[in-house]
Amino acid sequence: MHPRPTTSADPARELLDDFPEYATTQILDHLRSTEYARLDIGGQAYLDYTGGGMYADSQIREHAASLSAQVLGNPHSVSLSSSASTTLVERARRAVLEFFGATDDYTAIFTLNASGALKLVGESFPFVEGGRFVLAFDNHNSVNGIREFARAKGATFDYAPLTLPDLRIDRPALDALLAAGDRSVPRLFAFPAQSNFSGVQHPLDLVEAAHQAGWQVLLDAAAYVPTNALDLRTVQPDFVTVSFYKMFGYPTGVGCLLVHKRALPLLRRPWFAGGTVNFATVQGKAHILSPGEAGFEDGTLNYLSIPAVEIGLRHLQHIGIDTIHTRVQSLAGWLLRKLLDLRHVNGRHMVRIYGPATMKARGATLTMNFYDPEGHLIDYRRVEELASERRISLRTGCFCNPGAGESAEGLTEEDMRAAMHAGADMNLQKFVQLMQTRGGKAAGAIRVSFGLASNVDDAARFLEFAEDLRDQTRLTLGDVSFDIENCRVIRDGA
Ligand SMILES: Cc1ncc(COP(=O)(O)O)c(C=O)c1O
Repeated sequence: MHPRPTTSADPARELLDDFPEYATTQILDHLRSTEYARLDIGGQAYLDYTGGGMYADSQIREHAASLSAQVLGNPHSVSLSSSASTTLVERARRAVLEFFGATDDYTAIFTLNASGALKLVGESFPFVEGGRFVLAFDNHNSVNGIREFARAKGATFDYAPLTLPDLRIDRPALDALLAAGDRSVPRLFAFPAQSNFSGVQHPLDLVEAAHQAGWQVLLDAAAYVPTNALDLRTVQPDFVTVSFYKMFGYPTGVGCLLVHKRALPLLRRPWFAGGTVNFATVQGKAHILSPGEAGFEDGTLNYLSIPAVEIGLRHLQHIGIDTIHTRVQSLAGWLLRKLLDLRHVNGRHMVRIYGPATMKARGATLTMNFYDPEGHLIDYRRVEELASERRISLRTGCFCNPGAGESAEGLTEEDMRAAMHAGADMNLQKFVQLMQTRGGKAAGAIRVSFGLASNVDDAARFLEFAEDLRDQTRLTLGDVSFDIENCRVIRDGA
């Protein structure tokens, strides 16, 4: 049997045939050669936009020029230098609210990153004895961690399961979870707008459905907003979390929690800090928290970096988020089809994709594992090493999203218990080995994701790299075979 040809002589032509709308994104080819030229100068194919975005040279220049031209001081004062910082920070805050259509209804709280925003919700949400926290199975660990705040206050939590093989939220199961319980206690439902594991985009109408059932809603938009428009006039979660470096690369160290004004009074901060109080006394042993965002911004804000957020947002607006969306969806759609077509010479599939096999309701994040001609799992760590040798940056592991990986790979509660009991030094590497001994299950995967500076050469380079794994037999992890087509483990030689 002969493999179907997959590498096309002219990927750009083929991409345009499949996705004619790609032609409307030419501005990004121009920017690739001007603003992001360092990628091609260094011969790099960067494919980890879900990990971190790319900054344009002009963002850095504009920010550096602004820093060089001004005297900026700690904003907790009214001096000239302090007021100058406050002005820039407040301009950035306004720009964030405007970008998301949130000016009228939301408060924007600057944080260190999306995790910082999620932690603010977790520690301030009024979980009580008998309260509930429901979250999707494919949340990032920084959302999973909120369950510890719920647990500490006596609330219970439950995960809404995912359907296989598409890894979408099981709607009937979720509806049942949301319908149960006491409406009179505060209840929080959290889900990612886009999974950072599978790229699945969960329907945003879940927000309204949960509201109708009497829940507060936390939408983790960190993986969604870099390539999708989010308009908070039309969908109104109580809490929305983002990291700006994922949207436009620079600055790192700044994220945001957007809180709907109706939900703000619900939050109870467990402590106070410099910058968050209108008044605090030592002898009186009391404090009065500042109203609005100030009550949540602990200590001194990153007042030198926050102004760069406005510059980044302007850069995205100049390109147009819809143009970026069209670009990445086309690239991911083309690569997805080509990867699904890859076969070994014996006709067996080479790649198992976790999540939807089409671009319907999914973003430009593709997560996969490679298998050898006999269906043995190829070690993703070796794949990453080989990719690095070719100057391709991709991501491997579990991407801080254990629930999606557990669902995708069929890992059971028993498997996870075995791992927890295997010793305090358990880590991902040991876990991968352990799962091989428990029916040859995969643990960890390879993730490729596109962003605003991606082009067809990046996608074609990864495809070429993947094709070179055809008939590769030396990189496997264990001796249990997996039948990709029928999604089941088969014993070696069976
Ligand atoms: C969906 C999602 N939520 C939250 C986070 C956490 O973001 P950060 O590491 O910037 O805090 C990430 C990061 O990858 C993510 O993809």
